[in-house]
Amino acid sequence: MLDIQKDLVEQVTVVSINPNDPVHVENIPPGWHLVGKGNYAAVFGHNALLPGKIVKVYAINRGSAADEAEVYKKLASHKSYSELYSSGERHLVLKKLEGVTLYDALRKGIYIPKQVIKDVDEAIQYASSIGLNPIDIHGKNVIMRDGSGYIVDVSDFCLTHKCPRWKDFKKAYFLLYYPLFKKFKFSIPHWMLEKGRKGYQLYLRLSGKGKRKKEKLSG
Ligand SMILES: Nc1ncnc2c1ncn2[C@@H]1O[C@H](COP(=O)(O)OP(=O)(O)OP(=O)(O)O)[C@@H](O)[C@H]1O
Ligand SMILES: [Mg+2]
Repeated sequence: MLDIQKDLVEQVTVVSINPNDPVHVENIPPGWHLVGKGNYAAVFGHNALLPGKIVKVYAINRGSAADEAEVYKKLASHKSYSELYSSGERHLVLKKLEGVTLYDALRKGIYIPKQVIKDVDEAIQYASSIGLNPIDIHGKNVIMRDGSGYIVDVSDFCLTHKCPRWKDFKKAYFLLYYPLFKKFKFSIPHWMLEKGRKGYQLYLRLSGKGKRKKEKLSG
């Protein structure tokens, strides 16, 4: 029987070297594969033993699996979010959302339809309506599949600060992306997306909009 704690979490190395860049991953045990990386955690799959699910493993000393598990419990079941199956001190077992992140869609020149933006807006409204603070929604935290949008990362929904990321993403989408993509299909090279990501992080820091406050939503 699969023991996620022993077979994955205690074997794999997930380290955060720079808090503003994706974590570093080593020693992935046989049978497991890397699905994606964020600045706090890495996500793994096991086709044979864990079909349709993924395991999000937090880097040591980064973020809190328990806080994200609480958010998933509050979200319960909603079409635009993943679902929580179980959790441990450093990991969550979640429903796998198939598809491509908006970041990868831009990189590969895959069209992002307006419906994806609408779905995310609705998912944000839903989270707000149940007392959560849906923030940190950016190109790597939204997945699209068959023209629908899904939010894959709810780790910061329990914090209290404001975050302009999704509002700014939408601005760029409606002002630049949508009018241009209608005229001609284009992809954005990885180096340019990374320059944009770094430039945006710097803008958030300098403008004071990226500040992380420690307060958590109560309850
Ligand atoms: N439920 C899921 N199904 C499929 N892929 C997922 C899922 N959750 C996460 N991923 C993939 O793994 C990547 C990293 O996961 P996630 O965004 O949760 O990590 P994070 O470290 O909390 O991110 P951030 O840096 O935004 O805080 C995502 O960008 C996505 O590509
Ligand atoms: Mg993320």
